[in-house]
Amino acid sequence: MGGFNRWSTAEKVSEGIDLKGKTALVTGANTGLGLETTRVLALRGAKVIMACRDQQKAEAARDKIVAESAGNIQPEQLLNLPLDMNALASVRASAEEFLSWDMPLDILINNAGIMIPMERRTEDGFEAHLGINHLAHFLFTRLIIDALKRAGQARVVVVASGAMGMATQTAELNDINWEERKFSGMRSYGDSKLMNLLFAKELNKRFNQDGIVANALHPGVIATELARDQSLPFMILGLVAIPFMKSKGQGAATSVYLATSPDYASKGGLYFSSCQEARPEYKLASDEALCTAVWERSEALTGLDNR
Ligand SMILES: NC(=O)c1ccc[n+]([C@@H]2O[C@H](COP(=O)([O-])OP(=O)(O)OC[C@H]3O[C@@H](n4cnc5c(N)ncnc54)[C@H](OP(=O)(O)O)[C@@H]3O)[C@@H](O)[C@H]2O)c1
Repeated sequence: MGGFNRWSTAEKVSEGIDLKGKTALVTGANTGLGLETTRVLALRGAKVIMACRDQQKAEAARDKIVAESAGNIQPEQLLNLPLDMNALASVRASAEEFLSWDMPLDILINNAGIMIPMERRTEDGFEAHLGINHLAHFLFTRLIIDALKRAGQARVVVVASGAMGMATQTAELNDINWEERKFSGMRSYGDSKLMNLLFAKELNKRFNQDGIVANALHPGVIATELARDQSLPFMILGLVAIPFMKSKGQGAATSVYLATSPDYASKGGLYFSSCQEARPEYKLASDEALCTAVWERSEALTGLDNR
């Protein structure tokens, strides 16, 4: 196994792997990397829960995956779970609904994300990158942790980004919610992606003894809908760069690799790019005290510390 690189696709890295009897849940499964990750996990036999905010888009994506699979993916393999990460109340409702299905969860892919240039707040008043990319995923994962424990051996894959190189977070986590500083879309996106990695590391540390392995990754640069709210010059630059980008299959490869490879069934707390262990782009990314600080602050912000 292993030896994969930038050109490897999600299908390639999971060749020969049988996921029959396994259940996976992918956030943001209706388009982009989440859609391709869902498709390939289902192609390998998994039941995949598509956790999406827009049920029409989720249904259309599900139909498309089944229709284009030439009979290799059955409709019963794909389940829809409404999940809007713009509001913590919706995250709680979604977690409750999932738990009511009473299913062990073998694979959780925290994939949904936004990258926007303007300042926007979630329903709970969080800066949108912080709220959607990090806090909503933090809360959802924590609320369904018993389903992951019940799997015996579970994997959590967190889709971060090399954009964490633009993060601003200090060891003190000052102004984490962007209330005092001049707003920067790319820097707040970078902060949220740094928190994705710190979360994966701390999750792995706290729950490894329960059979949960968590890793994070940079998928590469891929033409998806992620830049949909960016400026015209950004879009034009993106169009020019398309020939140098990864395909969606290549972009989803590291998520699928970490979710399925026997090499990482028990090794966690790591960061990957192109299916290889990588050095994180931010200087504080390996700071254990910061991992714990982000965890504790996230518990406080999502109300988990009052339970
Ligand atoms: N593409 C890249 O070059 C790149 C590079 C580095 C990292 N990443 C990361 O890869 C992940 C997937 O991104 P992508 O490129 O596939 O982007 P995408 O095509 O825009 O897909 C993003 C997904 O997230 C969902 N989402 C957004 N806001 C949500 C919310 N409030 N609640 C629930 N779901 C929500 C979207 O749903 P809707 O369709 O309903 O909006 C969509 O399903 C992200 O975490 C991103 O940061 C991407």
